[in-house]
Amino acid sequence: MELDDINTITVLGAGNMGHGIAEVAALAGYEVHLRDINEEFVENGYDQIEWSLDKLAEKEQITEADAEDALGRVETYVDLAESVADADVVIEAVPERMDIKKDVYTELEAAAPEETVFATNTSSLSVTELAEVTERPERFCGMHFFNPPVRMQLVEVISGADTSAETMDLITDLAESMDKTPVRVMKDSPGFVANRILVPLMNEAAWIVESGDATVSEVDSTTKYGIGLPMGSFELADQVGIDVGYHVLEYMHEVLGDAYEPCPLLEEKVEAENLGKKTGKGFYDYEDGEGAQVP
Ligand code: 3HC
Repeated sequence: MELDDINTITVLGAGNMGHGIAEVAALAGYEVHLRDINEEFVENGYDQIEWSLDKLAEKEQITEADAEDALGRVETYVDLAESVADADVVIEAVPERMDIKKDVYTELEAAAPEETVFATNTSSLSVTELAEVTERPERFCGMHFFNPPVRMQLVEVISGADTSAETMDLITDLAESMDKTPVRVMKDSPGFVANRILVPLMNEAAWIVESGDATVSEVDSTTKYGIGLPMGSFELADQVGIDVGYHVLEYMHEVLGDAYEPCPLLEEKVEAENLGKKTGKGFYDYEDGEGAQVP
């Protein structure tokens, strides 16, 4: 398959990353099928796309006609088989757990046309292990976007052990057609490159606070104003989803060892379902609509 053959992209999972990826694909002119496991999730994802497109139009980053056209290219689905029936590429962005993703790939393999290419937006899990659930490991790779996808430039294109050169080229071209900067990662290791750096940063920030050596605002002020990242470490954790960072750490801890042990502070937030912006509360409170204020 060549880039010109791609018309329809199915995005599985309408959460933070899924709806953002669907928006980026629709803005690039693709027909997008956005699928989640129930109406509420998928409608919420669609509403988020609408909000984001309106915001981009309001700021004159796109025209109102572009926003309308992009939204018109997004169709929502709950039935997985229907959503992939004419998909050229499926981008999977379901929760960051190996068991959930494997179940989805088993169902997907049975439903998708044989030539459809599968790309996983996993943040850390083995692309090779996920591909093994399917009959098409050569047409399977990682396509890892960053949060929020519509604003972040990088897409890691990750090769599993059996990914073909054609698939890597196709997904690299696809990322470029979405105005992204793809970086090819040829070795499938936990967290790939970006999350191997970013997620331990969030974890270390949590360990500093857990040990009583500094406060959340001290840590965030130094990361933002001193180290020069666009957000404080805790702001970033709230943006990404504390659960996402936590699951990435759990996996890196399991595979790479003790250096990646998740801080209990993160676990407490996950157990309390204070996951960041998406639940209205994380390390900061977003319920008043103001969001994080780093002093
Ligand atoms: N769509 C449209 N508008 C959006 C938006 C979206 N998805 N998200 C935020 N905005 C809007 C805000 O509502 C705000 O609007 P307002 O000014 O009307 O209030 C505006 O964008 C803020 O944009 P600015 O350009 O003024 O703000 P910034 O310069 O701070 O940029 C940012 C925002 C691009 C998010 C920047 O803070 C940033 O780059 N943060 C770091 C994000 C990052 O590192 N992401 C990677 C995380 S790791 C990851 O995702 C991997 C995963 O696998 C774990």
